[in-house]
Amino acid sequence: MSIVIAGRSLVLVGFMGSGKSSVGRELAKRWNFRFVDTDAMIRHKYDLSIPDIFAKHGEDFFREAEYQALVRLRGICSSVIATGGGIVTQPRNLPLLRALGPVVWLCADQTTILNRVGKSTHRPMLNQANPQESVARLLKERAPLYHRAADLRIETSGLTHQEVADRIVSGLDELRAQPRMDTNRRE
Ligand code: S3P
Repeated sequence: MSIVIAGRSLVLVGFMGSGKSSVGRELAKRWNFRFVDTDAMIRHKYDLSIPDIFAKHGEDFFREAEYQALVRLRGICSSVIATGGGIVTQPRNLPLLRALGPVVWLCADQTTILNRVGKSTHRPMLNQANPQESVARLLKERAPLYHRAADLRIETSGLTHQEVADRIVSGLDELRAQPRMDTNRRE
């Protein structure tokens, strides 16, 4: 476990299909940390799948639930927290994410994302006539938001989850020596 995290948690943000849950589980196993997934918290709270929450209550309700999940996580330590791909779209979430610990942005190119999630049926944001167009548009809209939220950006295209986890570990050590992206995210 990196000294950067001591007494805090690690937060993973990034687009759908960037590997947040798989990499998060891998890191939690390595560090003997708890693995927390904000989507899972919401599913359990409402006893509904994410697509059902979107279908029954709409996206705004889901975004409020996502914010409430972060509020509930306040102060949690020794955890790896995987977040939903849209968590950075609400500015009120950013201070809550940052307060949890270092924020790592897992990114991947459009082709990789499409290969991973293009045919997904459990992602309401991609349940459109043209998922390719949705991915392209959302990636463009969200890239600056991930950049702003994150301390560290890790490219995941073509890498295994283990390799991504290795890169996060090295990235955190470099961050300790020289805080990166920090200046980008301040007002
Ligand atoms: C969403 C991403 C999903 C989930 C919901 C909305 C988004 O999580 O939170 O379907 O807006 O990008 P994953 O990133 O884990 O797929």
